Amino acid sequence: MPVDFSALNALHTAAGSRHMLDLFDADRSRAENFSARADGLLFDYAKTNIDVQTREALFALLDEAGVADKREAMFTGEKINDTEGRAVLHTALRNLDGGPVLVDGKDVMPEVLNTLARMDDFADRIRRGDISSVSGSPFEDIVNIGIGGSDLGPVMAYEAMQPYVDGPRCHFVSNVDGAHIHDVLARVNPQTTLIIVASKTFTTIETMTNAQTARDWLVPHIGEDGVSKHFAALSTAKDKTAAFGIDPDLVFGFEDWVGGRYSVWGPIGLSLMIAIGPQNFADFLRGAQAMDVHFRTAAPKDNLPVLLALVGLWHNQVCGHATRAVLPYEQRLVRLPAYFQQLEMESNGKRVSMDGEDLPYHSGPVVWGEPGTNGQHAFYQLIHQGTRVVPCEFMVGKFGHETHLDHQHELLVSNCLAQSEALMRGRDIDEARAVMAAKGFEGAELERQAAHRVFPGNRPSTTLAYEVLTPFVLGQIIALYEHRVFVEGVILGINSYDQWGVELGKELALALQPVLSGNKSGSDKDGSTRHLIDFLKV
Ligand code: F6P
Repeated sequence: MPVDFSALNALHTAAGSRHMLDLFDADRSRAENFSARADGLLFDYAKTNIDVQTREALFALLDEAGVADKREAMFTGEKINDTEGRAVLHTALRNLDGGPVLVDGKDVMPEVLNTLARMDDFADRIRRGDISSVSGSPFEDIVNIGIGGSDLGPVMAYEAMQPYVDGPRCHFVSNVDGAHIHDVLARVNPQTTLIIVASKTFTTIETMTNAQTARDWLVPHIGEDGVSKHFAALSTAKDKTAAFGIDPDLVFGFEDWVGGRYSVWGPIGLSLMIAIGPQNFADFLRGAQAMDVHFRTAAPKDNLPVLLALVGLWHNQVCGHATRAVLPYEQRLVRLPAYFQQLEMESNGKRVSMDGEDLPYHSGPVVWGEPGTNGQHAFYQLIHQGTRVVPCEFMVGKFGHETHLDHQHELLVSNCLAQSEALMRGRDIDEARAVMAAKGFEGAELERQAAHRVFPGNRPSTTLAYEVLTPFVLGQIIALYEHRVFVEGVILGINSYDQWGVELGKELALALQPVLSGNKSGSDKDGSTRHLIDFLKV
C-alpha cells in the first residue's frame, strides 16, 4: 500500500513562503532540536523548512510503512528483495562481533568470517611480499577490474583513505572503452602486477572483456602458467572463475544476498584492504557496524539514517525538488557523489511499488555533486540563484590529516559553513541595492544591477560533521547512506534491492554489436538508430 503524503502536502502548502530564519526566531534551541549525533557524527537539519509539526507527520510515515518491522526483517535475513527472492544482508559482512544471522535457517556468519580471515591473510601476505609475482618480486600494483558496485565502492574508498595507504598502489578499470584499460596498463609493470577481477556474477560484459584484455597483455610476459599467480577473483560464481583459469585459492566468494552496490564490505573491498591493511579495513567495517547498531536501536528523533531519509522524502516527494546535491568538503571524497549515485539511484529509481502498481508519487531523486570548494566555482551559481531549488547535503570534518596545513582546513570549513548560511539567508533587494549604491550606481541602472545580485535564500541544506575522515568514519558515512536508502525505499513501498532498469540496454547492446560489425542487418531498427549505425559503422 502506498503511504499517504496528504498531511505533509497540506503542511507544505500551509508553510507557503515561510522563511526558515523565522523558525530559528521561534525556537532559540532549533539547532539542538533539529540535529542528532551518533558515535562522533553530528547531523544538522535545522537549515530546512521542517518544523515540529512537519517532523511529527514525517515520523508518522515510519509507522504507516512499517519501517521498524522491515528493518528487523532486513537484519534478520528475511527475503526482502522479493523480485529476486533474496535476503539483503550486507550488514552481515560487518557483523564482526554480532550474533548469528540466519538465511533459510542457516547461520551465514561462519562463512562470512572465514572469507574475511582468508582476505586478511592474503592481503597481509601480498603486503609483506610473501606472495610474489612470477618474477619472484613482490606485487607493486593491483589492478581491480570491475564495474558499478564492483568498482565504485573500492575506488571511492581507496581515494578517501589515501592517508592510510601503505601497501601496493591500486588502479581501477571499469569502462568497456578500451582507452580505460589501455591507459591503466600503460602505467604498470606486468611482472609485478596483480589483476583482481571483481564481478558478483562474473558475466558482466565490460568486466569480462577487460579481464580478457588484461590476460592477453599479461601472458606474453608471464606465460600461461603465470595466470594462476597473477589473477584473483571476487565473485559469487565459482564455476565461472574456474573456467577463466583463476586458482580457487585466489577466489574470494560471497553470496547472492550481498547486492553489488552494497558489496564493498566483503571480498569486493579486497583491493582496498590490500592498500590500507586488514586492521584499517576492520576499522572501516567497525564504523559501519556502529551505524548498524545505531540504526537498529536509536529512537527516530535521534536516528541519523531515519532523519536523513525523512528530510530526503520531504524535499523530493513533498516539496517537489527533483534532485539533491552531495557536497563533501573533503577532497578525498571526490568519488563519493558517484558512489551515492549508484547507491541511491539504482536502489530507489523504481516506477512501481512492491506489488507491481504504478507509484502514485515520484521515485527517488537524481543525486549528483562534487567536493567543495571546487563546486563553488562551477555549479553553485545555479544552486544559489537558479529557478530550481536543489537541497544540498554538506559534509565536513573538524580536522584534516595535513596538520601542517591547518590554515587551509580552516578556509575549507569556513567555506562549507558559509555556503549553507548563504543558501538559507540569501540577500534581499534592499541589501543588494545598498551594495550597488555604495559602488555609485543610481536610478534605473541601480535597480537593474541590484536585481542580478539578489539571492532568494530560504534554500534547504543539511550538514554532516565529523572529527576526521578515518576508516571508521568512512564506514559510518557509507552505512548511514545505505540505511537512508532503505528507509526511503520502505516508505515509498518499492524494492530497493533489484535493478531491472539496467537490463534492456544490456540486451539491446548485445544485439547491436553484430550489426556494427556487419554480420547482421539493422533494418529492424528505428530511423534514428539506423542513421547513427550508418555513421559509426567501420
Ligand atoms: O548492471 C548493473 C549491475 O548489475 C550493478 O548492479 C552491479 O553493481 C554491476 O552491474 C556489476 O555487476 P557484477 O559485479 O556482477 O559484474
